[in-house]
Amino acid sequence: MKQILNVKTPGKEYTIEISDESFSKLNKEIDEMTRGQKRLIVISKKVYDLYYNRLDFSEDELFILKDGEQEKNYKNYLKIINRAAELGLTRKDVMVAVGGGVVGDITGFAASTYMRGIDYIQVPTTLLAAVDSSVGGKTAIDLEEAKNIIGTFCQPKAVFININFLNTLNQRQFMSGLGEVLKYAFIEENCEYKTPLYLFEFLTLGCEKVLQKEPLTIIRMIEYCLNLKISVVNQDEKEAGLRKVLNFGHTLAHALETITKYKKFTHGEAVIFGMFFILKWAYEHEYITYSYYRLSTELLEKYGFKPLNKNFKPEKLTEIMKKDKKAEDGMITFIVPSGKKKVKEIKLTPAEVIYMFNS
Ligand code: GLY
Repeated sequence: MKQILNVKTPGKEYTIEISDESFSKLNKEIDEMTRGQKRLIVISKKVYDLYYNRLDFSEDELFILKDGEQEKNYKNYLKIINRAAELGLTRKDVMVAVGGGVVGDITGFAASTYMRGIDYIQVPTTLLAAVDSSVGGKTAIDLEEAKNIIGTFCQPKAVFININFLNTLNQRQFMSGLGEVLKYAFIEENCEYKTPLYLFEFLTLGCEKVLQKEPLTIIRMIEYCLNLKISVVNQDEKEAGLRKVLNFGHTLAHALETITKYKKFTHGEAVIFGMFFILKWAYEHEYITYSYYRLSTELLEKYGFKPLNKNFKPEKLTEIMKKDKKAEDGMITFIVPSGKKKVKEIKLTPAEVIYMFNS
């Protein structure tokens, strides 16, 4: 099965292919798309070890990137740029990112800055990258103090999602991807997709099939999430307003990831904690009804997720949130549920955030 989605941002149009077809078909499609171009393929070490025999890349065009958020740094960025220069890539050439979010983000950033910007193609191999980071053109590298602090908005030339890669994804990473998937269920109304997708209901009723990684269900699920994301990105590519809804659950998530130096929680786990926290707060402050609050937490629990059971010092979390690039004029931004499948942005002072944690 193959689904094709179209992204239409003001500066660029491209397609996203979601399929369970063979790797030989994937190779053929990448070859066709990059015909006549020099390529630099940035590939995750894990993916290289598991799939190199099945992927049609020559050793000469590869840059193998070790796995882990700590690899998304400026040293590796410079190495990628140097490799592109060594290979003689020109403005007409292309980079290809094969891996999870780290590979996608750093390759996108390298491509968008090399010679003032060349094409890149995303081949996400994790669920998290498939449903989020590979689509929408956010590229980035990290500094030790702040994630994604250096980056660009630069849309890829194409995205190829082949769900066969998910077969070797470890369970924790698969569940991390589901953290981002579940996020879309709570923001569907904001996305203004042309028809209702009923993602909340799909994920509630289809839970078993999702957890069993039933291929058609997984393709459908990725398609629904990306339809919502594309709808948002088409309206607000540069996150001037609407795109902020994609950050539901992320204010606390980023603080938790930073305070634990990216070692304790996966991104998706942190987003889940962020969503549990803000759903509870929204219910207690009468933004949402008790029945929607219950349905929402039951959905998260159905997938085996639980609220955070460890206490972090509110002052420390708030200090980190103040430095987040989403903070403005000393105010901390939260995306809070404001109705069924709907969220809205609120801005709180650091003192109000500390109170929020303590109340
Ligand atoms: N990951 C959120 C966004 O792409 O805007």
